[in-house]
Amino acid sequence: MNTQRISVLGLGSMGRALASTLLKAGHEVTIWNRTPGKAGDLRARGAREAPSLEEAIETSDLTLACLLDDASVRETLTPAIGKLTGRTLVNLTSGSARQARELAGWLAKNEVRFLAGGIMAVPPAIGTDEAFILYSGPRDLFDHVAPVLASLARPHWVGEDHGYAALYDMGALSGMYGMIAGVSHATALVDAEGGDVGTFIREVLHPWMKQMLPLMFAEPDPGESNAEMQATGLETMISTSQEAGVPGDLTGHLRAALWEMRRAAA
Ligand SMILES: NC(=O)c1ccc[n+]([C@@H]2O[C@H](COP(=O)([O-])OP(=O)(O)OC[C@H]3O[C@@H](n4cnc5c(N)ncnc54)[C@H](OP(=O)(O)O)[C@@H]3O)[C@@H](O)[C@H]2O)c1
Repeated sequence: MNTQRISVLGLGSMGRALASTLLKAGHEVTIWNRTPGKAGDLRARGAREAPSLEEAIETSDLTLACLLDDASVRETLTPAIGKLTGRTLVNLTSGSARQARELAGWLAKNEVRFLAGGIMAVPPAIGTDEAFILYSGPRDLFDHVAPVLASLARPHWVGEDHGYAALYDMGALSGMYGMIAGVSHATALVDAEGGDVGTFIREVLHPWMKQMLPLMFAEPDPGESNAEMQATGLETMISTSQEAGVPGDLTGHLRAALWEMRRAAA
């Protein structure tokens, strides 16, 4: 693979993992972060820290953005949009399909070649075989940059519509948060009624979820677990939760817990 000049905007946990993996693959990596001092060991390993966003963009053939959310991408790129004209941007920041389409429209007006991405991995998995990244946007642009993107994770193109990477990403997150919400709800329920949560997780919940996961993607057999039985079972689970004072809405407990953790960390 040819060495490429690549700039990474954003040095949060994911941006650092991306920059680190690109360095490992032998690319010339320029890094930029809104708040200085987040480069860790990247500079010692050969990354060049750009003194400004504009220089980060100008230095490279390809710019990857990995910021918090769509608003931070807009806020960051707006003052430097002229520098991106005629260049390629890959946005690996999570967002919604509508946000990706609106970003694509704005970038097209400014003659920026653009792929939208959705990362299907946690930072330590970047550069490993299990990681993959969804991309949407022009197929010829994807084919052009795929060899570089492949050093990060298996690149998987999902369509010309720039919204699709975000759509599938959020769909996958819905599945993931559904599982996390279920586990969070289950342990809250057992805890509320005085059960031993550790034993419950080890001996019941974990083996049960392992048994259920493959069935979720199998053709349902109505003779085995019919709809009436399932609907009644779900209502019983909800009424058991209500009796224990745990929100029957599966996401309710997880959302409250995450907001509490966020408040505590602030
Ligand atoms: N971590 C994961 O497991 C994971 C997995 C898949 C996808 N992702 C996605 O990857 C993206 C980055 O995640 P992360 O884990 O790296 O998050 P993070 O550790 O919280 O880092 C956030 C980054 O965004 C920057 N930022 C925030 N607001 C900004 C603004 N208004 N203007 C400019 N920069 C701003 C931060 O810069 P400062 O240092 O200046 O605050 C930092 O570089 C997110 O969209 C996330 O959904 C993450």
